[in-house]
Amino acid sequence: MQKVIWIVGASSGFGRDCALKLLQMGGYKVFVSSRRAELMQDLAQMGACVLPLDVCDETSVNTACQTILEQENRIDALLANAGLGVYGMVEAVDMADIHYQFDVNVFGVARCLKAVLPQMRQQKSGRIVITESLAAHASCIGIGWYAASKHALRGMHTALRQELHGTGVKVIAIEPGRVKTDFWQTAGADIQNNIKDYQQLTDNFIAYMDKPTYWQTPSTDSTVKAMIHALTADKPKTVYRTTHDAKLFPLLMKFMPNWLYDKIVLSQLGVK
Ligand SMILES: NC(=O)c1ccc[n+]([C@@H]2O[C@H](COP(=O)([O-])OP(=O)(O)OC[C@H]3O[C@@H](n4cnc5c(N)ncnc54)[C@H](OP(=O)(O)O)[C@@H]3O)[C@@H](O)[C@H]2O)c1
Repeated sequence: MQKVIWIVGASSGFGRDCALKLLQMGGYKVFVSSRRAELMQDLAQMGACVLPLDVCDETSVNTACQTILEQENRIDALLANAGLGVYGMVEAVDMADIHYQFDVNVFGVARCLKAVLPQMRQQKSGRIVITESLAAHASCIGIGWYAASKHALRGMHTALRQELHGTGVKVIAIEPGRVKTDFWQTAGADIQNNIKDYQQLTDNFIAYMDKPTYWQTPSTDSTVKAMIHALTADKPKTVYRTTHDAKLFPLLMKFMPNWLYDKIVLSQLGVK
């Protein structure tokens, strides 16, 4: 029987590359979702079933899940990957945008996992794979609300993993560090600041993030490999740290005093 896998956030980046890989491997029934259906047409041609949705819209999430269940009668794995970065200085980001950050990255994951869990518990098997981030462990200037959203996911997934113990449903976190996808294009396009005192810092942050060297980072390969393992292996790990920075930083943070961490970040952004 083909395993049924639902990838939410599949129109670009990790989600898209993960869908491509699964389709190339064959042997899986792959459903792909995100808002921009037009970007998933080539996945459809390769055999994926496209179910457009917005994770901020509960009805669209539930309708997509229902479609999968009507067609397949089961769902083996969810990759809750949809996410974006609302970047900017903590005080300078509008309340509406802070809500939006959590609506996509946290409540969006909540909507997806609540849609699939009743079926997974009933079939006594399944897995929820959540794309978190190095930012679930570490934060720094300019990414405060994004890091808060990923910290929130980490807090939630630990509880969920324990709550589902013995049900046959596994909960797995994917923690990439910096990887070149469309992520910065979205996050960087929209940085707001209307507080004069933060202007220099905001400019320095954008200049730092815009440096081509900053994004000369790994391809999606190691993260996609981890996602595939998490979605399909008999014995997946509970957490996959998929890039060198994601492996190193959480360890360093345990031992580094805050004053030293702050000093390093500030000096990187040209602050004396
Ligand atoms: N790239 C990195 O350095 C990095 C590092 C750590 C973690 N991550 C995480 O990896 C995940 C994927 O990001 P990426 O790097 O692959 O960036 P990306 O290329 O920008 O992909 C983001 C995906 O999320 C989808 N999405 C965003 N808002 C959505 C919404 N409201 N409803 C449905 N889908 C939505 C997008 O589809 P539509 O716009 O078509 O809806 C797109 O498919 C995110 O959770 C991100 O936080 C990225």
